[in-house]
Amino acid sequence: MERLPQPAGPALGGELLERFESRLPEETEAFGERLGRRLVGGDLLFLHGEIGAGKTTLVKGIARGVGVEGQVTSPTFTVGQRYRGRRFNLAHIDLYRLADALAEEPGLLDDYLDAETVAVVEWPERVGRELLGLEPRYLISLEDLGGTRRLITVHAGG
Ligand SMILES: Nc1ncnc2c1ncn2[C@@H]1O[C@H](COP(=O)(O)OP(=O)(O)OP(=O)(O)O)[C@@H](O)[C@H]1O
Ligand SMILES: [Mg+2]
Repeated sequence: MERLPQPAGPALGGELLERFESRLPEETEAFGERLGRRLVGGDLLFLHGEIGAGKTTLVKGIARGVGVEGQVTSPTFTVGQRYRGRRFNLAHIDLYRLADALAEEPGLLDDYLDAETVAVVEWPERVGRELLGLEPRYLISLEDLGGTRRLITVHAGG
């Protein structure tokens, strides 16, 4: 069967809003902080990228921008982590191991999403849009360009 041309950026994404080439983890974090300052409660972000692409590194910056002061760690072994921030709260959700649990209990993420909270989701593709039933405001992709270089793109939610 003939292969259809693939759209640029994450599947189902809308307009390309930003494109940034990071050369170091610190630059990824700083980019996240600038992005985080523009976010408001209720915003939902999907983060796409392979293992080690820098999703959690980006989230650390977003947390700063949202006004979270404490340390942000990877929630790999829980559904998610909630942080209180000066501007808004932050929910950091990792779906890497949660696809089956979510199929059983679709409301699993409800506790993490509200109007005072910016929510970021790593590995949304593990679950699939219909099941998640969520409409992200931004789709962010991180691509390893070799060494410590990463291409970060921000697309409007589809
Ligand atoms: N420019 C860069 N931006 C972000 N991280 C970088 C960069 N260069 C090197 N790194 C390193 O890559 C790793 C990224 O790890 P991180 O936990 O952020 O990835 P992740 O995408 O969340 O992975 P996972 O899917 O396992 O959760 C870190 O060790 C970080 O120091
Ligand atoms: Mg991570």
